[in-house]
Amino acid sequence: MTQLLTNGATTVAMFNAEGAAGPDRIGAIAGEVRAALETHGAALMSGFGVSSAEQFEAAAQAVGGELYPNNHEHEPVNADGTVQTPVFYPADRKLLWHNENSFNLEWPLRLLFCCVTAPAEGGETPVVDSRLVLRHLDRSIVERFTERGVRYERGYHRGLGLDWRTVFDTDDPGEVTRKCAAEGVECDWRADGTLRTAAVRPAVVRHPDTGELSWFNQAQHWHPSCLEPETREALLALYDQDDLPRDCRYGDGSPIEDSVMAEILGVYEELEYAFTWREGDVLAIDNVLVAHARNPYSGPRRLLVALTEMRRFDGNGD
Ligand SMILES: [Fe+2]
Repeated sequence: MTQLLTNGATTVAMFNAEGAAGPDRIGAIAGEVRAALETHGAALMSGFGVSSAEQFEAAAQAVGGELYPNNHEHEPVNADGTVQTPVFYPADRKLLWHNENSFNLEWPLRLLFCCVTAPAEGGETPVVDSRLVLRHLDRSIVERFTERGVRYERGYHRGLGLDWRTVFDTDDPGEVTRKCAAEGVECDWRADGTLRTAAVRPAVVRHPDTGELSWFNQAQHWHPSCLEPETREALLALYDQDDLPRDCRYGDGSPIEDSVMAEILGVYEELEYAFTWREGDVLAIDNVLVAHARNPYSGPRRLLVALTEMRRFDGNGD
């Protein structure tokens, strides 16, 4: 049975197993799930009892087709890295809304999550209809971002965040420079052997299948004004403004105003929809149609993630 969970803005289509149980049953509803994804951008398969990496891999393939192996940002769970754990983030903080890998040249069109251990409290994966984000934002903000895109700057500092050797899976700086050039990323090697990269990506894209326009970026993950005030202060005590581990600007290099980021956060907050995870649940999302976040939580929590249908900004979806 399908039920629409909605706050009047963002909608999640819920498919309930209703005792017809068994992770194998997801294959039988995969077509309906894909249809719901195309309309609503989010589909929750509840009560199917998907409780292991193997079962999740099969369910994710049934809905999303071929799974994309580990991208070195997530921790692999199975042998080929197609089932991963989400990026680590402190449990007491909210991981802000984002479209997965929208700072990269290549990103998944679809994403699946599985709840293996539900937290005692919180830990939801709120979703937000990105088509509505685009419509709710002030026109002048949308125009600015559409024309200029977002410049994501990243400093690979030793001992803070991921080292470049881990992210690029090599010890050879020359190989890193070549990989970056192939993906439209500028490399700035520092005298101490650390690296700073910058990439300009679109902020608004058309859905490759439906042609709908969507707000598709993750500026709020990179902009210093979106950090907790004490974290921002601590970072600015350690680094110059131009040397922060993460920063983002408009694509032309000009700063994005704190007030603009505050408005963007406000729109996400207003539109987000959060359901309560139950163990064995699987959530499928269309990465262009919805953004996702993670709420703070207490107690143990284990989610698995899989990425499918990889697209590139220079191909479909730009
Ligand atoms: Fe994510």
